[in-house]
Amino acid sequence: MGREYRVAVVGATGAVGVAMRTILAERGFPVKELIALASSKSDGKELEYCGEKVVCRELTADSFAGVDLALFSAGGGTSLKFAPIARDAGCVVVDNSSAWRMDPQVPLVVPEVNPDDMDWHKGIIANPNCSTIQMVVAMKPLHDEARITRVVVSTYQAVSGTGAKAINELVRQSGQILAGEKPTVSVYPYQIAFNCLPQIDVFLEDGSTKEEQKMVDETKKIMGDNSIAVTATCIRVPVQSGHSESVNLQFAAPMTPEHARELLSRAPGVVIVDDPANQAYPMPIVAAGTDATYVGRIRRDPTIENGLNLWVVADNLRKGAALNAVQIAELLAERGLVRVP
Ligand SMILES: NC(=O)c1ccc[n+]([C@@H]2O[C@H](COP(=O)([O-])OP(=O)(O)OC[C@H]3O[C@@H](n4cnc5c(N)ncnc54)[C@H](OP(=O)(O)O)[C@@H]3O)[C@@H](O)[C@H]2O)c1
Repeated sequence: MGREYRVAVVGATGAVGVAMRTILAERGFPVKELIALASSKSDGKELEYCGEKVVCRELTADSFAGVDLALFSAGGGTSLKFAPIARDAGCVVVDNSSAWRMDPQVPLVVPEVNPDDMDWHKGIIANPNCSTIQMVVAMKPLHDEARITRVVVSTYQAVSGTGAKAINELVRQSGQILAGEKPTVSVYPYQIAFNCLPQIDVFLEDGSTKEEQKMVDETKKIMGDNSIAVTATCIRVPVQSGHSESVNLQFAAPMTPEHARELLSRAPGVVIVDDPANQAYPMPIVAAGTDATYVGRIRRDPTIENGLNLWVVADNLRKGAALNAVQIAELLAERGLVRVP
């Protein structure tokens, strides 16, 4: 028998927390005990794990005694405060928020791209932003072959990226509009049903948003290459689950669509759906609920030297969050790294 772990899910009632519980069970992660933690309002709530009932507890400073591994997805403020408390109690933290991602002491890991960065963890490992994860999974095999010098990405991001409240808002507003009523707005600044919002997260001084800046900074850190120029425009669209991205790449060396297809067909975690003659391309309705990063519309960009266009789609709650975190946990277990050095 291999080692089994006491695993805490912090934010166990949220959109990502639900996916974490599901994916830990689906993939048979060796869980000795699952500890479900959330805010005080969920204390005593009955949740499910592997067909069994688990009682959710309020997250406190004492929550981590005897816990081996904690998967955090309860917002940046909670992670900033409680991840160090968990680590100091001897618990390895995989954090889904943006709180620790750019800390030089914290590895930022996508297992298909930079698994070895996990080896130098000091107790906290960060899970990247959802949009960045699926983009770097598709970029990595191409970068290794012909070095990507510039990326222009536009995202089409699902509302589940904002959490459970936003999914309810899209459904509620759609119903209101179809019933001829005025939609009520609470999560986003404007109605999201039948609309697109060119704002994800807050605006920065240079006119970009924090989500766009995350894509710039996190791509460089994960790929281990500060020379890649990245420019991003992030859009919220009325899709329930599954982020889509138009990705324009420029390479240092020639890269044909045929060669890109060949490299991506062998890349871990990637599924190519690219058959224009049969109108086959990746879509969020197909990606939702699955684990792969889907790549299609692979074609040359004739307006620049060594340019390629891609369309990349993945389930933001799974590969963009919970699955990536569970894959990190699996690698930690495989490498004997579930310990605070
Ligand atoms: N959704 C995505 O695609 C995605 C992707 C990558 C990263 N993330 C990150 O994951 C985190 C959660 O996202 P989500 O989409 O799952 O949001 P969500 O559906 O709103 O869930 C938030 C979770 O955090 C818990 N929580 C809130 N305040 C807390 C507190 N003070 N102490 C303890 N628990 C608290 C909530 O518990 P209660 O139910 O008790 O309030 C709930 O379980 C965020 O940091 C987000 O940036 C999300």
